[in-house]
Amino acid sequence: MAGPHPIGDPAPLDGLLPASAAVGAAGRDFGVYLHVPFCRVRCGYCDFNTYTATELRGVKQSDYSSQAVLEIEAAGRILQDSGVPARAAATVFFGGGTPTLLPAAHLARMLDAVRSGWGIAAGAEVTTEANPDSVDADYLAQLADAGFTRVSFGMQSAVPRVLATLERTHDPERVPLVVGWAREAGLDVSLDLIYGTPGETLFDWRTSLEHAIDQAPDHLSAYSLIVEDGTKLARQIRRGELAQPDEDLQAEFYELADELLGRAGYGWYEVSNWATDAAHRSRHNLAYWRSQDWWGVGPGAHSHVGGVRWWNVKHPAAYADRVLAGHSPAAGRETLDDATREVERVLLLTRIREGIPVDSLAPQGRREVAGLIADGLIDGRAALSGTIELTLRGRLLADAVVRRLLAD
Ligand SMILES: C[S@@+](CC[C@H](N)C(=O)[O-])C[C@H]1O[C@@H](n2cnc3c(N)ncnc32)[C@H](O)[C@@H]1O
Ligand code: SF4
Repeated sequence: MAGPHPIGDPAPLDGLLPASAAVGAAGRDFGVYLHVPFCRVRCGYCDFNTYTATELRGVKQSDYSSQAVLEIEAAGRILQDSGVPARAAATVFFGGGTPTLLPAAHLARMLDAVRSGWGIAAGAEVTTEANPDSVDADYLAQLADAGFTRVSFGMQSAVPRVLATLERTHDPERVPLVVGWAREAGLDVSLDLIYGTPGETLFDWRTSLEHAIDQAPDHLSAYSLIVEDGTKLARQIRRGELAQPDEDLQAEFYELADELLGRAGYGWYEVSNWATDAAHRSRHNLAYWRSQDWWGVGPGAHSHVGGVRWWNVKHPAAYADRVLAGHSPAAGRETLDDATREVERVLLLTRIREGIPVDSLAPQGRREVAGLIADGLIDGRAALSGTIELTLRGRLLADAVVRRLLAD
């Protein structure tokens, strides 16, 4: 998770949730996010809650899975004692950091704990993120045996110069190998790409997209490079060593992505995400965008159950102290009021293709619809049939569309 935590209320050490969390729970999907907060080196652009070996203040990566298991075991009891009905996980997502820095057996142990604590629904989507550096054929086969169904590789670019600016350590030629091994293991494959790296040309980006498409993944994410405060990339830009990403060029990159991916048979279903078909959309991420329930396990992980949101202590050492003492690792939490939940609903649903029903908007939002169609930001035909669906231009200006739909 990027950036500092929100300022909320203190969370109780027993982790119990207010009664409001249980309201309507049976009608919502439940997912589990497992954060693995370790990376071999930190990429210059990344401000995720992740730590290299020298930043661990005495805790060991090898102890992490048993600590996460303690949180999972406690979580089942906390939900039950808070009156939230038991639901099997419809999706499980291991993210990081680099989950695949841990031995496959450790990921399997955490997944087993999810299975015994909550159950895993039949046909569940079980994903891990992976750095192409950190897996081989045997590792991926072990994941598939353990119940993983999908792997998401951080490819970022196919161009060595761009990867060097991003400080990525993997050899781009490894991507076809790891994708092939994942396929042999029977795993679905997603690739993450980043565009707008300083010095990246439109030709470079085309090359990366073509290489990614050549791997025939089921799913692709293309993220515009965000210059996060406090990162090495931000310092390099401030000192003038690297150019600030150019907004017009970012828009051209996005349009090229949509054109090439569309031509190759990938349909967008969220501003930064494309898939071969509806079955290969990331169900875990869709559950976030649809404001379903999820439990986030691990340092800095965020959770959301029925409008109650909480976040764990960030450092792995603080996390270990809490869970080993039998306490909840939650650092703070907030109960969203109805107005905030509505803002989030509009913010999140606007970005996905299924969109928001027009008649679920407040009157001021409905009054914006004709203007948004006239400005080419939302699709007129979809709006006529009752749904807000972004056009290509609307996807580029999604934040502005949301502001207008929420305008007073
Ligand atoms: C946790 S990482 C994926 C797994 C693994 N750590 C890796 O990087 O290969 C999640 C993804 O977030 C994206 N990301 C991280 N920081 C970003 C930034 N500042 N701007 C845009 N995308 C970013 C990258 O595409 C990365 O693949
Ligand atoms: S490997 Fe992934 S999580 Fe780790 S620093 Fe790089 S982008 Fe961030």
